[in-house]
Amino acid sequence: MLVTSNITTDVIIAISTIAIIIYFYVKHQYSYWKRLGVPQLKPTFPLGNYPFTLPKGLQIGAYTRRYYEAFKKLGAPYGGVYIGLTPTLVITDADVAKTILVNDFNNFTDRNMYSSKHQPVSVNLLSQTGKEWKAARAKFTSLFTTAKLRSFINFAATCKQDLVAYLDEFADGKKDVAIRRVTGLYVADVTTMILFGFHAHNFKSENKEINSFGRAVFESFTPLYQLKLLLTHCYPKLARFLGVGNVNKEVEDFGNVYIPNAVEYRIKNNIRGIDFLQLLIDAKKAGVELTMDEMVSQSFIFAAGGLETSASTSMVMLYELAKHKECQTKVREEIYRIREKYEGKTTYDSLMEHTYLQQVLNEVLRIYPFVTNLYRICVQDYNIPGRDLVIEKGTPLLIPLVGFHRDPDYFPEPLKFDPSRFDDKNDKQKGYLPFGAGPRNCVAARLGMIQSNLTVVAVIENYEISLSPKTPDTLEMCENSFTLSFKNEIFLNFKKIQN
Ligand code: HEM
Ligand SMILES: *[C@@H]1O[C@H](CO)[C@@H](O)[C@H](O)[C@H]1NC(C)=O
Ligand SMILES: *[C@@H]1O[C@H](CO)[C@@H](O)[C@H](O)[C@H]1NC(C)=O
Repeated sequence: MLVTSNITTDVIIAISTIAIIIYFYVKHQYSYWKRLGVPQLKPTFPLGNYPFTLPKGLQIGAYTRRYYEAFKKLGAPYGGVYIGLTPTLVITDADVAKTILVNDFNNFTDRNMYSSKHQPVSVNLLSQTGKEWKAARAKFTSLFTTAKLRSFINFAATCKQDLVAYLDEFADGKKDVAIRRVTGLYVADVTTMILFGFHAHNFKSENKEINSFGRAVFESFTPLYQLKLLLTHCYPKLARFLGVGNVNKEVEDFGNVYIPNAVEYRIKNNIRGIDFLQLLIDAKKAGVELTMDEMVSQSFIFAAGGLETSASTSMVMLYELAKHKECQTKVREEIYRIREKYEGKTTYDSLMEHTYLQQVLNEVLRIYPFVTNLYRICVQDYNIPGRDLVIEKGTPLLIPLVGFHRDPDYFPEPLKFDPSRFDDKNDKQKGYLPFGAGPRNCVAARLGMIQSNLTVVAVIENYEISLSPKTPDTLEMCENSFTLSFKNEIFLNFKKIQN
């Protein structure tokens, strides 16, 4: 049926009508925060306030920090942005953040992480919601009891031999050691043992597969992949409808082949391990419903969550210790004192006594919170205590960690590396959230810290380290990565300590 007698005119009218409807819809949507009396940044269609990142990509912590600083400048405890068309609340007040993460967690149990049923590996602890998350979290948590952590430390000690043997070849104090690679290989060794129970000897023959399992998640940022991320980030519903996945194909393929094979091999040969895989196998035997897809996806998030974060943390710890020799000496003295007390053995208890090392770790994670943002989604209408804002059910929240950690209000001279900020083992400082907080915090925070600590102990115990002339004085952030990572390889010089 025609409105006018001319088809061309009709088509023009139809298109204009649609365009006008979209225009007003977008305009209405982009005034959501204004209508609620919340300060907002000016959005542009179609990405809202999400930066256009093609083809280069943008480090996620960098742009969320801009949000943080914009609202902070206004003195606002929170502000509104739009990711695509979705209104998202950015929190800039440490007390409000804590109330949401901890006290009133029940109104914010979910995280708005993209997952797609078309890509089972994306359905994991990080992205699961509601009851499903709760059940999975309980399974995961049982892996990180103190008893389990104690046995993981033995794994780390086993892997240490390869690390030291490798470094010895460079230990004349002159050769450059590519430190990212070294910490990466070591953490990959330890992680492989914890996950699958075998020693991969990455230093001898780089186990490309395991490495890529964790690494590719963060590093393979091709333009096509960028486009996918942009879509899953800004228009998740559309992305889901189109069946777009946000995990690299090579990562997915590895998991889908490797893990089922490993499970089958164990069951067939009746082999037991003290590892993640065993935990999953046992849970299944005990009647817990657990599909192979879930085994793969949970192992995936274990590798993805653990490899890059722990490797980067220990890498920057070593970098800062090479730069600040007085801190290095202090760490070494602490190591020797404790080593004597424990007769040369590194155990869980001995590790816990390294209080100064802990301060160094805290300070590194303050300046470089490798997981740069916390995400939540409001699952029940929520009235922020003492304020007149009601957050509507379904609204995503963003807590920019780099913003908090480098805010001079919380940390004077924020870019200065100063472990004494954490004197008295005080890591409960306001605005300090490197592992998140509340019931949905990092499930493996203790393991992450232990892995980072152990790497540093193994190095500082045996070598005097210093910056290579090739190493930049300040670390430049890499722009195309999810987590904080650095533009250039960091080179250090190692000198063996004879003892
Ligand atoms: C230094 C190392 C690490 C850092 C800085 C770190 C940081 C974080 C942060 C900030 C979160 C979000 C917490 C929140 O939303 O409140 C998180 C969640 C998570 N991390 Fe870590 N992490 C580290 C190591 C690890 C390791 C070694 C693993 C795995 C073995 C791991 C697995 C996870 C998982 C599965 C989650 C999601 C938990 C949930 O939603 O229930 N992380 N991590
Ligand atoms: C290492 O990590 C653990 C995490 O449980 C922490 O409590 C400990 O103090 C850390 N520091 C050292 C030096 O081991
Ligand atoms: C959190 O959600 C519950 C409903 O489950 C509601 O009764 C409560 O008022 C909410 N909390 C706040 C502070 O709004």
